[in-house]
Amino acid sequence: MTTTKLAPNIGVEITGLTGRELPARKVADDCQAALDQYGVVVYREIHIDDGDLVAFSRLLGEVVVPKVNDPGEHPEIARITLDPQKSVLAGYRRGNFLWHIDGATDELPQKGTLLTAREVDPAGGDTEFANTYAAYEALSDTEKAEIADLRVVHSFAAAQAVAYPDATAKQRADWEKVPTRVHPLVWTRRSGRKSLLIGATADTVVGRPADRGRELLGRLLDWSTRPRFSLRHQWHRGDLVIWDNTGMLHRALPFEPTSRRLMHRTTLVGQELVSA
Ligand code: OGA
Ligand code: MN
Repeated sequence: MTTTKLAPNIGVEITGLTGRELPARKVADDCQAALDQYGVVVYREIHIDDGDLVAFSRLLGEVVVPKVNDPGEHPEIARITLDPQKSVLAGYRRGNFLWHIDGATDELPQKGTLLTAREVDPAGGDTEFANTYAAYEALSDTEKAEIADLRVVHSFAAAQAVAYPDATAKQRADWEKVPTRVHPLVWTRRSGRKSLLIGATADTVVGRPADRGRELLGRLLDWSTRPRFSLRHQWHRGDLVIWDNTGMLHRALPFEPTSRRLMHRTTLVGQELVSA
């Protein structure tokens, strides 16, 4: 097994393993250590099957069983696609084209996400990641002090409205069923590490006029997603990419709604409340 850094501030590739070998304690521990250090772990063309994906996910944490999901042998696995024939949730997935953190409107955003490519799009659909631990760390002390106590309203509806500008009233009413959630802007861990909890769901700053809050959130997003904090992954079939979802913004680059692109995804239950 060898590990290779992928970019200065984010990402590592682990080679020398097959999909069958992943569900093992030692492999999971190495993966967790790599996630803690680099934020994103890539296993290229490892071709892990669904059963092993769930087994490996369980070694990394408690696995989320999505409340709404497609029928299948593994209720933990979500099918990520824009094709409504392949998933009942396809009509929400354009939201993945916007920088986001998974579960940002949940009380406890997911600890991590595992995404493996079953079908890729030859013309697009890379995934980008941005490390908000590194982005926070690189702010000046003045900027850190300015944002230290801010709280942010996260809204699923606000994010979806950007992804689907032509949505119907029915779609908007459906998004509004997801309650908004207030989180601190700066997420401080028990370990002392800090990341920024921003992205498409970050709608307004508590106590500030909406436009001024959005302006600040927009600036922090631009900063965090600069090339120096980012990684772009070009998918091959069978790739498995895992990220620390508590600090890695991510987004899919555009692909057509008719694309055959299909990902299988598991997520890990969050471990630490977003507390200031
Ligand atoms: C996700 C996600 C990005 C992609 O599944 O949570 O953001 O490139 N996916 O499919
Ligand atoms: Mn996501």
